[in-house]
Amino acid sequence: MPTALITGATSGIGAAFAARLARDGRDLVLVARDGERLEAAASGHREHGVSADVLVADLSTADGRDRVVARLTDPDAPVDLLVNNAGATQRHRFLEADPAALLAQHDLNVTAVLQLTRAALPGMVERGRGAVVNVSSMLGFATGSSSTYVAEKAWVTVFTEGLAGTLAGTGVRALVLCPGFVRTEFHERAGLEMGEPKGLMWLDAERVVEECLADLARGKVVSVPSPQYKAIAAWMDLMPRPVLRRLFAVGERRRNR
Ligand SMILES: NC(=O)c1ccc[n+]([C@@H]2O[C@H](COP(=O)([O-])OP(=O)(O)OC[C@H]3O[C@@H](n4cnc5c(N)ncnc54)[C@H](OP(=O)(O)O)[C@@H]3O)[C@@H](O)[C@H]2O)c1
Repeated sequence: MPTALITGATSGIGAAFAARLARDGRDLVLVARDGERLEAAASGHREHGVSADVLVADLSTADGRDRVVARLTDPDAPVDLLVNNAGATQRHRFLEADPAALLAQHDLNVTAVLQLTRAALPGMVERGRGAVVNVSSMLGFATGSSSTYVAEKAWVTVFTEGLAGTLAGTGVRALVLCPGFVRTEFHERAGLEMGEPKGLMWLDAERVVEECLADLARGKVVSVPSPQYKAIAAWMDLMPRPVLRRLFAVGERRRNR
């Protein structure tokens, strides 16, 4: 079976991708920073009879990204599905955030997506098959927030939509996944107080992944899991940018009080 490389494969959405793809019989390459956790995840996936390699890499560093690029461009071990999933945010507002931490976040959320996609695609196009799934966010549709995370996810969404057009007719696809709130370690890692993650607006990672892979099979370019978030995305599409900007600015001002 074609091999899938998943970044951020030890937790949340990335772990759900790995579990589902292993059940489908895909060989895996799992990327994250915590080697022990990667090994534990890989041995679980091997129970499905697939191979699961681990690649310890910090994607916010050039060295970490280079190691993943080397694996993606290995002609003897082609990767036909790249899931750029690893991502992070932080609770500090732009003017208070540590500039070095902002740059590291940018390199994880943007530079790694660009560099890994650029490395993986030539081989896929040459073979005439494959796909890149980039994990963005509903927040990528937002405008008027000063969060660099929002701008980074907007970049991932626009970048992937453009890529899908470029790839037309090559046999290779690009899809951007734009989830709303998902129960993972994401908010806790960022130190964000979210309250109890329950109710209509909180989704399970497994469901997000199921809907994403179904959308990929259907040839969709943008995947927004769940009817509730589809409705919000459609509403945001209809809103003029100045209105959205004002709405988000009001939210920001309330947060700043
Ligand atoms: N949860 C949500 O509500 C939500 C909503 C919309 C979009 N998203 C997006 O979904 C994606 C996955 O997030 P999640 O919610 O599943 O988060 P999560 O549970 O915190 O998982 C993050 C994964 O990324 C890895 N990772 C973090 N920093 C890394 C780095 N510098 N280099 C390599 N790997 C790194 C982590 O492993 P290590 O710590 O071992 O490296 C972990 O495997 C992200 O792109 C996020 O922006 C999440």
